[in-house]
Amino acid sequence: MQWPRGGDEVKVLAVMGSPRIGGNTDALVTEILRGADLSGAETERIDLIRYDVSPCTGCQDCRASGFCVIKDDAPALIDLMLESDIWVIGTPVYWWGPSGLLKAFVDRWYSTIHLPSIKKRMAKRVALACVYGDADPDTPRYVLGMFEEIVSYLGGSLTDRLLVRASSFGAARQNPDVMLQALELGRRLGAGRQ
Ligand SMILES: Cc1cc2nc3c(=O)[nH]c(=O)nc-3n(C[C@H](O)[C@H](O)[C@H](O)COP(=O)(O)O)c2cc1C
Repeated sequence: MQWPRGGDEVKVLAVMGSPRIGGNTDALVTEILRGADLSGAETERIDLIRYDVSPCTGCQDCRASGFCVIKDDAPALIDLMLESDIWVIGTPVYWWGPSGLLKAFVDRWYSTIHLPSIKKRMAKRVALACVYGDADPDTPRYVLGMFEEIVSYLGGSLTDRLLVRASSFGAARQNPDVMLQALELGRRLGAGRQ
């Protein structure tokens, strides 16, 4: 995968971790990217369900080489992440954590942290978009905490969070306040504003 335009615009990349295309995470990510696009950014998205991303086997070969030995889509998707400026990470809460799809992909980022020349390119501005079904607004706390730790470890900063309660298919899209928050977040990201 490559950035098609490859120009000087801010490159905003979304990693969409819900298996439900058209669901709530998808709706947030789509609106965030639309806002970023309106601000002049170049946007791209990875809908993880469309790709072949195997779990990390823990072989540790990447510690010496900096590259993953598994032959699937993850290395090309990670390249796209390395070449972007801002990440939008989208996930539903599954059992207080991120979706398994997203966790499997995040585990594969392990291959990027051993060579300083690669690791420094994983330091990004990151926005987290997370949906959950429970009434407790603190439900996404572990997902938030996990990404705060990961992004900080990679040398970046998690600057924005959009945590939305939505359960049934289409619920987020039908909430105009939520869609406006997503659009505005995307506009800020695309314009490089906090
Ligand atoms: C396997 C699974 C586990 C879930 N676990 C939780 C949970 O722990 N807490 C919660 O609030 N919602 C949980 N949910 C509800 C989803 O977070 C919610 O339906 C969300 O809107 C789904 O997002 P999506 O439309 O992008 O797939 C779970 C849903 C599934 C399918």
